[in-house]
Amino acid sequence: MKTIEEIREIISTLTLEEKASLCSGETFWLTKKIPGKDIPVIMVSDGPVGLRKQANVEDHLGMNESIQAVCFPAGVGMAATFNKELYGKMGETLGEECRAENVAVILGPAVNIKRSPLCGRNFEYLSEDPFLASEMSTSYVKGVQSKHVGTSIKHFAVNNMETRRFSASSNLSERALREIYLAAFEGPVRNAEPWTVMCSYNRINGELASQNKMLLTDILRDDWGFKGNVISDWGAVSNRAKALEAGLNLEMPTSYGENDAMLVEAIKRGELDESLLDKNCESLLKLIYDAYDNIGNSSEFKFDRDEHHEIAKNIATETFVLLKNEGNVLPLNKNAKIAVVGAYAKTPRFQGGGSAHINCHKITSFLNACSENGLADIKFAEGFSPVADDFDENLCNEAVAIAQEADVTLIFAGLPDIFESEAYDRKHMNMPACQLKVIDEVSKVAKKTVIVLHNGSPIEMPFVNNVDAILECYLGGQAVGGAQFDVIFGDKSPSGRLAETFPIKLEDNPSYLNFPGYKNNVNYAEDIFVGYRYYDKKKMNVLFPFGFGLSYTEFKYSNLKLSKEEINEDEGLTVSVDITNVGSVASKEVVQLYVKNCDTKVLRPVREFKGFEKIELAPGEAKTVTFILNKRSFAYFDERIHDWAVPSGTYQIEIGKNSRCIELSAPVEVTGKQILPDEYNYDSITEDMLEDPRIAEYVKGYLAGFGNDREKTDVEKESMNEEMEYASMMYSPLRSGLYFSGGKIKYDDIDEFLEEINKIIKK
Ligand code: BGC
Repeated sequence: MKTIEEIREIISTLTLEEKASLCSGETFWLTKKIPGKDIPVIMVSDGPVGLRKQANVEDHLGMNESIQAVCFPAGVGMAATFNKELYGKMGETLGEECRAENVAVILGPAVNIKRSPLCGRNFEYLSEDPFLASEMSTSYVKGVQSKHVGTSIKHFAVNNMETRRFSASSNLSERALREIYLAAFEGPVRNAEPWTVMCSYNRINGELASQNKMLLTDILRDDWGFKGNVISDWGAVSNRAKALEAGLNLEMPTSYGENDAMLVEAIKRGELDESLLDKNCESLLKLIYDAYDNIGNSSEFKFDRDEHHEIAKNIATETFVLLKNEGNVLPLNKNAKIAVVGAYAKTPRFQGGGSAHINCHKITSFLNACSENGLADIKFAEGFSPVADDFDENLCNEAVAIAQEADVTLIFAGLPDIFESEAYDRKHMNMPACQLKVIDEVSKVAKKTVIVLHNGSPIEMPFVNNVDAILECYLGGQAVGGAQFDVIFGDKSPSGRLAETFPIKLEDNPSYLNFPGYKNNVNYAEDIFVGYRYYDKKKMNVLFPFGFGLSYTEFKYSNLKLSKEEINEDEGLTVSVDITNVGSVASKEVVQLYVKNCDTKVLRPVREFKGFEKIELAPGEAKTVTFILNKRSFAYFDERIHDWAVPSGTYQIEIGKNSRCIELSAPVEVTGKQILPDEYNYDSITEDMLEDPRIAEYVKGYLAGFGNDREKTDVEKESMNEEMEYASMMYSPLRSGLYFSGGKIKYDDIDEFLEEINKIIKK
């Protein structure tokens, strides 16, 4: 550890060239060596759900070999656990692996919002909902960093597709930016202080994230108080000087000196102040020295892969979401005659492709787990190829044959690797046709059919009504088979919940018309209405709603209590509810809190997800769950004041099992600060003035003095109804008095009136 004075002292010994050089990588993963200077070098590595430390050939797309490590379930599944402690635990485990491998910063979590089911990296991201993404990633960051290893929360920001990811501009409103896309980063930055933030490749409203001052300085540092370093995504920098000015600390990977030279030239030409570079070096050296303290000091961190494999298994059981379970076909009896169909039972698809790809030290498939647990003679038929979409009649016939003989048939299906990955987006939400055909043929003959899915993002399910059960396993990590065994045979009850809506079809998705945009522009026309916010507002049917997931037991919700009936926006509200396990097996329940917005003129989603707790209950057991709500639970981002605002009114506090299944609700009267103009002018509208409590009375009185004394003509009486009359008065600007008062109102009158009301509001 070095003090800031010591760091400044070191910087004062560096030449301009050396300082510039410090601001980019030495290699793909290392910070710069400065010849002749005693500055340590630290290593960063991917992330986010396993360690991808490359010792030899380096790349950012997961193509070349990395060390053997443990692959935990993908982000999509981790979000589906709705279990903050568990995600924190995964973070701690990863932190230990980093320590054992002398990795200073792990490049994760990846928290971009799932705007479209088509985004190639959705498997890595957490949710369509910013509150969930924010709460979960806060735990991850705290978990990793508790081991004194840094995180790099990514990709900051509005990076929601892979198409043209280096150049596309995500064009969106300030409100959508703050309420949806930045909120997922804001919580962890404010509450967990990640050591680094990774800026994304894309542009935001035209400006590259890497050189976006509004993003990297005004919001991240000035508004949220970020004290760490911003790292560029690999190759995200265009103009190094502009990036430094905007707030980017470290360019990764190395540009082999080219961009360092650009920085030096810009300073020499006087376009950039050298003191800015000094400050940047100060921040970077602080990170490097702090991290370096732990390097070479990792003997206490044993990286026991088998132990971590077990942890990965236990975590995976909570990532599975039981989507359908007709006639309680699951859990299966171990003595039942079971047929297993589908290549993924033998070679599971358990992780995504690209920079998140882990070189696993061991993989457990469902069939491995069955034989480890003494169920070796289960009948298996591959059914289809795990990697391609070629229908093979023989494979299908084999599957049909074993299904005919069994009490129940499990079909391990999903998306092949090539269907979803970093660097490109999907074009559709379909499963391979060959798999659908096998599901169709098998489910026709099987007594009971259970679909076990392996995919990183939502799919359309034409088979939904023809099968008995569906278990969504997402990409469950290297220990997926053991976890599937535990859940399918009932040692564990499924407790995952969907962190994203499954629409019935792709065309239902709110981003459908604007994904992936055209050339370098993608317009976020759906604005804040992402995921369930859209489907609810449009009253649309969905395949499975946000928050949905079944279990092997039933829970009863009762006794909803609010600490107050009325609050003002700065007061907290405590909400409590009792949950009882009224079924016969132990299980975990995700208790979800939604705030149903009050009916105001502000356009808002019907309800928003604002709290969740996962609790474990034995049969017959009851627990009280408590939530604390604050101003942000009721607020929206108001573009007039560039800040959060709370409309006054009656909100419903809803407690539910998912966004479409609200069990209990209670009202609370919230008083927010009204946003009022500092001044009125000729263009001010009557309605706005009447809604301003400071001047409403005065304005009413004034208007009364202008009653129209001319009798209406018959034609006017007929064509002007009350609503029209009211509207034409309410929505008129002050200046319209000149034309519509029959000449009674002159500029002098308007000036006098404005002077008076502006005097009142300034009081
Ligand atoms: C990805 C990042 C990753 C980096 C390093 C980039 O292509 O977008 O998520 O951390 O490569 O591999």
